[in-house]
Amino acid sequence: MSESTQLEGRFPPPPELAAEANVKADAYEEAARDRLGFWETQARRLSWEKEWDRVLDWDKPPFAKWFVGGKLNVAYNCLDRHVEAGHGDRVAYHWEGEPGDTRTLTYGELTQEVCRAANALLKLGVQAGDRVAIYMPMIPETVIAMLACARIGAVHMVVFGGFSADALASRITDAGAVLVITSDGGYRRGAPSALKPAVDDAVSRTDSVRNVVVVKRTGQDVEWNEGRDLWWDDVVARQSPEHTPEAFDAEHPLYIMYTSGTTAKPKGILHTTGGYLTQVSWTHWAVFDLKPDRDVFWTAADVGWVTGHSYIVYGPLSNRATSVMYEGTPDTPHKGRWWDIIQRYKVSILYTAPTTIRTFMKWGEDIPAEYDLSSLRLLGSVGEPINPEAWLWYHKNIGGGRCPIMDTWWQTETGAHMITPLPGVTTLKPGSAQTPIPGVSAKVVDDEGNELGDDSTGLLVLTEPWPSMLRTIWGDDDRYVDTYWSRFGKNVYFAGDGAKKDADGDIWLLGRVDDVMNVSGHRISTTEVESALVSHPTVAEAAVVGASDPTTGQGIVAFVILRGNVTEEQSGEELVQTLRLHVRREIGPIASPRQIMVVQELPKTRSGKIMRRLLRDVAENRELGDVTTLTDSSVMELISEKLPAAPSED
Ligand code: WTA
Repeated sequence: MSESTQLEGRFPPPPELAAEANVKADAYEEAARDRLGFWETQARRLSWEKEWDRVLDWDKPPFAKWFVGGKLNVAYNCLDRHVEAGHGDRVAYHWEGEPGDTRTLTYGELTQEVCRAANALLKLGVQAGDRVAIYMPMIPETVIAMLACARIGAVHMVVFGGFSADALASRITDAGAVLVITSDGGYRRGAPSALKPAVDDAVSRTDSVRNVVVVKRTGQDVEWNEGRDLWWDDVVARQSPEHTPEAFDAEHPLYIMYTSGTTAKPKGILHTTGGYLTQVSWTHWAVFDLKPDRDVFWTAADVGWVTGHSYIVYGPLSNRATSVMYEGTPDTPHKGRWWDIIQRYKVSILYTAPTTIRTFMKWGEDIPAEYDLSSLRLLGSVGEPINPEAWLWYHKNIGGGRCPIMDTWWQTETGAHMITPLPGVTTLKPGSAQTPIPGVSAKVVDDEGNELGDDSTGLLVLTEPWPSMLRTIWGDDDRYVDTYWSRFGKNVYFAGDGAKKDADGDIWLLGRVDDVMNVSGHRISTTEVESALVSHPTVAEAAVVGASDPTTGQGIVAFVILRGNVTEEQSGEELVQTLRLHVRREIGPIASPRQIMVVQELPKTRSGKIMRRLLRDVAENRELGDVTTLTDSSVMELISEKLPAAPSED
């Protein structure tokens, strides 16, 4: 930490922001006095058709029910109530396609589109509780589809458009989706990239899907399955723009989002209605200090991840924010694309990931310097620890030295921000997420679960239920209990992250402590990549580790042992390429290994466990640690000799 300690400064809240901040320091005291009362107050920011009888039912931990007996409609809260209050002409989204085409959707227009889509879903026989898969690029219809599901009580299951047909198929099967909403394709890196072929492939291997609804985005040719496939324009456009929303139980399922865990099988994280919207809405308003009449808010992430669900869709819309939504990549057609967007739409709040910030650092500060970024007043970071160097770069070169940075720690499972500074309250420390939000209780514990004091390092746990917590893993209550609530008992949520508490009691996140890698802010399990590799006919055994990477946080490094029948000539660079492609096909491009090394042996303990720590040392080009527990320590020498030099900074 010596280097970062040097860089550590302290950044008190800007006085004007602090004076007008949505949330002041007393929120912490209020929540500490009466945690459930605090969350009730935040729930009342929403419109409920029926209020709850009980704030929290935690009689059977770890199965929580929040706002028991309450009823509300999420889409009504995100749309109609703003229109009814006279804000129908306010812009909900300034959308921009990668080729430069734009669309502006007001709250009034978005409400009508969502009603049309809801009516179309009903016509197609989708009922409350049915699961609908959404596999889309970053276009307005993605948001419209999600809200249409929420409006009729169908459970959406968005699969990131970068995932493969295999990944989509397994998620459709696990969720039992009856409908898939997709598009012909989307624009990425200057070219149309297809989505429909993956859907055709995936759906042919599942048996729950009745219809596939296809949005026309790129106009590319698509195969058509008569009777099953329908154009979005044909089924949605002719529907009535009116639909009366029905209020659903606070615990009615809202969505499933699959995420990686320590095993190969992704977990369907289930979020429900009332508690989720309460915490997402409040954190979006509190942490970003959102002023709906003045701010232009931009979460530069994909809707296909939880960050997009909570902070492109539900948080901003529930707060009547004006958001920017951008389809493509940051360097298309030039490396100043984001800054151009900020300048044109006068974005005032930008929320993105450290990996992207480090990429911008590599491209150089001259690029953002060419644009007028003076509209920005607040910045956010999410997905992985932000190193102090990147924090300071972001602060100076994007925030002009005046914008506080909210380093928000949370997970797919937590649904919303959990540990983060508050912009009008916290004196910032670059690199630290600092403090649990009011109403959330986080601790750092040792391996036995004993709470650690200041100035110590251990594991992060959450010791009280929170409104937007996951309710279970879809279809697998046992796995839910085992994964999160067994290590320290049924009242303590184990997050899987290491954490340090500094001398002031501020929390620093230190990365995953389990077999989950964090590549560009995306969770990928080592086992998932290993099973993809061994599913290839040439591979006998595989071990995968996450090695630190200057840009992506971690990079995937794989060690493979080939089957006996693979000859020396077949095992060259060509095979490595084949294996890389195979992983892309099985999981998706984000899981593609940075390096694949063909080895004769893997280092194992006497009990046969692969020693990942040693492989990580090799992958990161470190001096090897202790090898005395290895069955055969010469294995490591053989592996190290094989190793090409680690990739340099660029
Ligand atoms: C990591 C993304 C440090 C962490 C919202 C967590 C972070 C995992 C931060 C969840 C942060 C996320 N500082 N680490 N500010 N934010 N993480 O489910 O390891 O895709 O457990 O949710 O990302 O990733 P997920």
